[in-house]
Amino acid sequence: MKNLTLFLLSVCFLMACTNTEKQTEKQKEMNRFIDSLMGQMTLEEKIGQLSQCSGEFATGPDNNPISRTEDISKGLIGSMLNVSGAEKTRRMQEAAMQSRLRIPLIFGLDVIHGFRTGFPIPLAEAASFDLDAIERSARCSAIEASASGLHWTFAPMVDISWDARWGRVMEGAGEDPYYGSLVAQARVRGLQGDDLSADNTILACVKHYAAYGAPMAGKDYNSVDMSMGHFANFYMPPYKAAMEAGAATFMSSFNDFNNQPATGNSFLLRHLLKKEWGFDGFVVSDWGSVQEMVAHRYARDEREAALKGITAGLDMEMVSECYRNNLAELVKEGTIDESLIDDAVRRILIKKYELGLFEDPFRYCDVEREKEIVNSQPLRDEARYVAERSIVLLKNEQNILPLSPSVKSVALIGPLAKSQKDMCGSWSCADQNKVITLFEAMQQRGLTINYSDGYDLKTDEITNLQHTLAQVRKSDVTIIAMGEEAWESGEMRSKADINIPAGQQKLVEEIVKTGKPVVVLMMCGRPVIFNTVREKAPAILCTWWLSSEAGPAICNVLWGDYNPSGKLPMTFPQHIGQIPLYYQYKSTGRPAGQDVWCTKYIDITDQPAYPFGYGLSYTRFDYDNVRVEKSDEKGVYAYVLVDITNSGNYDGEEVVQFYVRDEYASITRPVKELRGFEKIALKKGESRTVKFPVTDKQLGFYNNDMEYIVEPGEFTFMVGRNSQDVESVSFTL
Ligand code: GLC
Repeated sequence: MKNLTLFLLSVCFLMACTNTEKQTEKQKEMNRFIDSLMGQMTLEEKIGQLSQCSGEFATGPDNNPISRTEDISKGLIGSMLNVSGAEKTRRMQEAAMQSRLRIPLIFGLDVIHGFRTGFPIPLAEAASFDLDAIERSARCSAIEASASGLHWTFAPMVDISWDARWGRVMEGAGEDPYYGSLVAQARVRGLQGDDLSADNTILACVKHYAAYGAPMAGKDYNSVDMSMGHFANFYMPPYKAAMEAGAATFMSSFNDFNNQPATGNSFLLRHLLKKEWGFDGFVVSDWGSVQEMVAHRYARDEREAALKGITAGLDMEMVSECYRNNLAELVKEGTIDESLIDDAVRRILIKKYELGLFEDPFRYCDVEREKEIVNSQPLRDEARYVAERSIVLLKNEQNILPLSPSVKSVALIGPLAKSQKDMCGSWSCADQNKVITLFEAMQQRGLTINYSDGYDLKTDEITNLQHTLAQVRKSDVTIIAMGEEAWESGEMRSKADINIPAGQQKLVEEIVKTGKPVVVLMMCGRPVIFNTVREKAPAILCTWWLSSEAGPAICNVLWGDYNPSGKLPMTFPQHIGQIPLYYQYKSTGRPAGQDVWCTKYIDITDQPAYPFGYGLSYTRFDYDNVRVEKSDEKGVYAYVLVDITNSGNYDGEEVVQFYVRDEYASITRPVKELRGFEKIALKKGESRTVKFPVTDKQLGFYNNDMEYIVEPGEFTFMVGRNSQDVESVSFTL
């Protein structure tokens, strides 16, 4: 037996070496190809590879879509964004094949949550706490987008944010860096798969590097100012994790960081990302952010913007033309060395090579394949699967939910129940006409629907109240769809007030007075404030913006075909004045909760409406016997264990959460930080023990020199169903 084991081990070793040799051989072959190609390129052709132009529509200011065919055919453009479709991209690629060196274009688009088949907005997906579902969603995006001529998506957006006034929280994974890092990696894996040359994988783009989610006052594009220690512990981890997952590209952010625009920030780009972390992909600017260094008053003119961008390590310029118009002169006059250009060009050519574009520039432009894949049913099934798991049950008094199969008539209230556009949310590529709304899904269930608008989305005033109440009175149950329209969250959608308008909330109050069963669906792109609804409505689901399968997913949850399992990835405040509000706060020298001399407000509570990690189920999960067991496994200090029992009447899933508090450290540390979670499925009556490893990853932190360290001492481990409802146990390292 021993000889056989030795034999098998040696075979595996030889195979691994062969595989490595093959990889090395493939790399050598690629480098030979790129060295030869670059040796033929003129300076103008090299600079062409650093230029990206927008195609059919603008996702930023000052873009006038003009035909780029001539420039493409001269090799003066290396990439196009905002154009898709097998036929359209083929035509542009044909123009690129007319260029002297036939270097293919790379096509990018914001495929943020699904392509033509829309998936839940990323913040909603994050609420699933289901990394497999999140990866599957990204996989579907890649499959559908790559069938439509796309090679690259400007996703995942991994910006941590503690500020719900910032409209772009909808694009991310919420407030927690530990969870945000895992989500970032899942999305990179889903998009890129394990073979970039496959025709159903695309390049990921980690954005917006860096700390774009922390704009002053929650105003989009605003300045970011934080200590390096704060950046390292709370904002940096997802970028680093995504890079470690193999992300092919990064996007520099609009904001300044440590008093320098990220797009011209050598610390962020050349030092931290490329040197310290060893990132070998390329960095694209955000829309016009090279030129915007002039508006930042960090560059005197576009010439200096080009100089600062290329010097800092910014490889490709999106839309603005500072590189195109100035780099050649900067090289020729000796201000910059051509090697800076060569490094950027090489990084870009490597990704085009890895995509297989030199081998077959038209690999992704197959019209027949596009017809077969885009909007196909398997993608829709996946979209519904992920959407169901993204819904968060916030309240369920009188056990109104799940609705009984005997419910035959429904008063459906609110224009969002019929809005295909608003179900798609912001940054959507979905075919809006293929979105199944809540109204349609209820029709498909054969229900009698007594519909009423109830309120006017434009004026936010109640309309036809008596008609609405009449619909309510003659129905078995009332479902009220309320929240935000798609334009209210997303880029350049910062709000000073995230309260749901009073009119919508007042309507709920009036309907609840009828005494009929009422369920409120909160359809939103961010944490919103709805204190009246929170108090008066007996049942509330946060359904976010779920895109193409919104209606069926919501109905499946309402009627219990799927027992909601989502948890909030971001704290929901009670008052706008609480923002920024987050669970991993620090105790301060006068911790909240003590006597008058403590960290608090004199006019409002410091408690959230709903804490990070909060979400209910139709069943009940009991947590017992939280305990620590020392471990002698290498790298594992201990395990934290908890016994979970489904003591309710429904099978369900629970996100068991593990938080850590470092009781004493060389820097001030938060009162708790998420350091583990596990989503488990338990049948009613079933019990299971969940165990969390305690390693450096759970106990460590970045010191003020940005070194990751672990300090011996006392810790408190907390396990629970959300960031507030936890049971504690002590541990000493
Ligand atoms: C936008 C966004 C960025 C997007 C890019 C291209 O301004 O900031 O997230 O990827 O431009 O559309």
